[in-house]
Amino acid sequence: MRTPIVAGNWKMNKTVAEARELVSEIVPLMKEMTDVKVVLCPPAPALLPIAALLEGTQIRLGAQNMHWEASGAYTGELAPAMVAEFGRFVIIGHSERRAYFGETDETVNKKVHAAQATGLTPIVCVGETLEENEASQTSAVVSRQIKEGLKDVNADLIIAYEPIWAIGTGLAATGEMANETIKTIRAVLAELFGTAKAEEIRILYGGSVKGSNAAEFFSQSDIDGALVGGAALKADGFAEIAAAAQNEVTKK
Ligand code: 13P
Repeated sequence: MRTPIVAGNWKMNKTVAEARELVSEIVPLMKEMTDVKVVLCPPAPALLPIAALLEGTQIRLGAQNMHWEASGAYTGELAPAMVAEFGRFVIIGHSERRAYFGETDETVNKKVHAAQATGLTPIVCVGETLEENEASQTSAVVSRQIKEGLKDVNADLIIAYEPIWAIGTGLAATGEMANETIKTIRAVLAELFGTAKAEEIRILYGGSVKGSNAAEFFSQSDIDGALVGGAALKADGFAEIAAAAQNEVTKK
């Protein structure tokens, strides 16, 4: 069975002081979530202070982005080894990075290579726009993103399927819709890595996940957790989502 992952992508929110406060609220709420892997992806300045707060807990840290080069003249960028000092995970190719910062399947591929070479587990984001969805291109788009983004990498990764129209809109996909696309993604992963490995890869859903709809996603056959934006910025809301994942494991 694939252990569910509930990851919080804080995006460009929370100063270090605010991050500390949020984490101090999150930690006690997660004590009982022993069957769920909880991952926090705060802004880069908060990685070091939060790492200290998470010592001795089961909660893991990740970054929201990084460069593919090991070091050098890349003003404003974060090197893989800098992330690896504090985190185990790194979000790669979030749709906001693709839309606002020019990331492509090609740069995603370079970053996945770099993450794996540094011992980080990449959380690779894919997802279609509203126009693509309405034109029934969802399968084609996510298949291309997976095939191009994961060229010649290994299966030590996590996928997050985040339909762009569902991000920050309050308009989540239905559990069934998301599950169908995630099954397509798993089929493409099977082409790349073989069926056995594809069955082991965690595929998360992201896009307006909250406490009240989390169970609808986690009860689906192929959805292995969530990448949470807005609802991850409040301890209670985030814990409710983790509890829904924990509840699903307990049922099985
Ligand atoms: P929301 O949960 O705010 O819709 O954001 C989802 C997301 O983009 C997580 O990476």
